[in-house]
Amino acid sequence: MEIKKNISLKSYNTFGIDVVAYAFVEVSSIDELKDVLLDNNQPILILGGGSNLLFTKDFEGIAIKNNLKGITVVSENEDEVYLKVGAGEVWHEFVLFCIENNYAGIENLSLIPGNVGASPMQNIGAYGVEVKDVITAVEAFDLKDYSIKTFSNQMCDFGYRSSIFKTSEKGNYFITSVTFKLSKQTRINTSYGAISGELESMNISNPTIKDVSTAVINIRLSKLPDPKKIGNSGSFFKNPIVSKIQKNKIIQNYPDAPNYLQPDGTFKMAAGWLIEKCGWKGKRIDNYGVHDLQALVLVNYGGAKGSDIFKLSEQVIESVKTQFEIVLEREVNIL
Ligand code: FAD
Ligand code: EPU
Repeated sequence: MEIKKNISLKSYNTFGIDVVAYAFVEVSSIDELKDVLLDNNQPILILGGGSNLLFTKDFEGIAIKNNLKGITVVSENEDEVYLKVGAGEVWHEFVLFCIENNYAGIENLSLIPGNVGASPMQNIGAYGVEVKDVITAVEAFDLKDYSIKTFSNQMCDFGYRSSIFKTSEKGNYFITSVTFKLSKQTRINTSYGAISGELESMNISNPTIKDVSTAVINIRLSKLPDPKKIGNSGSFFKNPIVSKIQKNKIIQNYPDAPNYLQPDGTFKMAAGWLIEKCGWKGKRIDNYGVHDLQALVLVNYGGAKGSDIFKLSEQVIESVKTQFEIVLEREVNIL
C-alpha cells in the first residue's frame, strides 16, 4: 500500500477536472484503511468511481480510493438471495453479475457509473427503481472510533437521492459493504414509460431481466453523455419537490410541464425541463456548458475548471428561481 504525494485526480473523477490531492492511497481491506488513518491525521476524501463529485480546488488532504472487493452469498432460499458486496465493486459489473445469475431487482439500475459503496450514499435511482428497494444492510467503518457498524435499511433513512450518509452522518463513515436482497423469481418493473416503449421497439413482449437491462442501457445511451468522451457527473441537480399550489401555478402558464404526484401529495417537477425552458439547454461557454440532449447534465468539454462549472450551476439556479420561483438543489457533491 503506497501513499503517493501530489497526485492529479483527473482520471479519478468523471467530470475530468484536473486538481491535485496532496496525498493519495488505494485500500483493499479494512486493516489497510485503519493503517492509513492511524498514520495520517489530515482531512480524508473517500473516492469511489468519482462520478458524483465536482472538484472546485485542489484537495488538501488524503484521497482514499476504495478497492474493497468481493461478492458473498449470505443466505438463499428458493425465492430470494442475500448478497454481501464489497464497497469497491463496480456497480454496473455487479448488475451484470446479478443478471447472469438471474437475480432480479437491480436491472433497471443498469449502467449507473460508480461503485457499490456509494450506491446507498444518495440512494441511486433510475427508471422506476431505487437501490433502497433492495438494500437490507450497510456495513460501515466509523471514522471516529474505528469500530464497524451495521445499519439496517430503516436506519439509513433513505429518501429521494438521500440517506443519513449524505445528511446527518455526512463524513462520519467509510462504507465497507452493502447487503442486497434480490429475487430469484423474475419480477419485471416496466412502470417507467420509456422502458415499455423501448421493449416494443426491440420487438420483445415477454421480457427477461436481461431485456429490461438492455432497454435501460439503450435509453441511457440515447441521452446521457458518456463520461469517457464528455466529462460530466450525471444529473447535476435534483428534481425539485413542490406543493400542489406551486405545481398548479406553473401548469397554468405551461400546461406541458412534466410533474409526478408523490405519495405525500407533493409533486416532483422535472429540473431538466425547467432548465430547458430557461434557455440553457445546449448552451456552451468556452470548454464547458449544459448538455444538448439533457439539460440536467452540466458538461466539461475538456480542460474546464470545476469552479467555472460551479459558477454556471449558480447561474442556472438563479434563472430557474427567477422564472419559476423554484430553488434547485445540487445532487453532485461539491469539493
Ligand atoms: P463518488 O463520486 O466517488 O463519491 C460520491 C460521494 O460519496 C462522495 O462524497 C464520496 O466521498 C462518498 N463516498 C464514495 N464511496 C464511499 C464509501 N465507500 N463510504 C463513504 N462515502 C463514500 N445517479 C443516480 O442515482 N441515478 C442515475 O441514473 C445516475 N446516472 C448517472 C449517469 C452518469 C453519466 C454519471 C456520470 C453519473 C450518474 N449518476 C446517477 C451519479 C453517480 O453515478 C452515482 O451517484 C454513484 O452512486 C456515484 O458513485 P461513485 O462511486 O462514483 O461515488
Ligand atoms: N426533460 C426536458 N428537457 C431536458 C431533460 C428532460 O424537457 O433537457 C423532460 C423529459 O422530456 C421528461 C422529464 O423531463 O418529461 C424527465 O426526464 P428524464 O426521464 O430524462 O429524467 P430526469 O428526471 O431528467 C431522472 C434522474 C436520472 C435518472 C432518470 C431516469 C434525477 C435528478 N435524475 O432524470 O438520474 O437516470 O431520471 O430514471 O432524479 C442522476 O441522478 O445522475 C441521474 C442521471
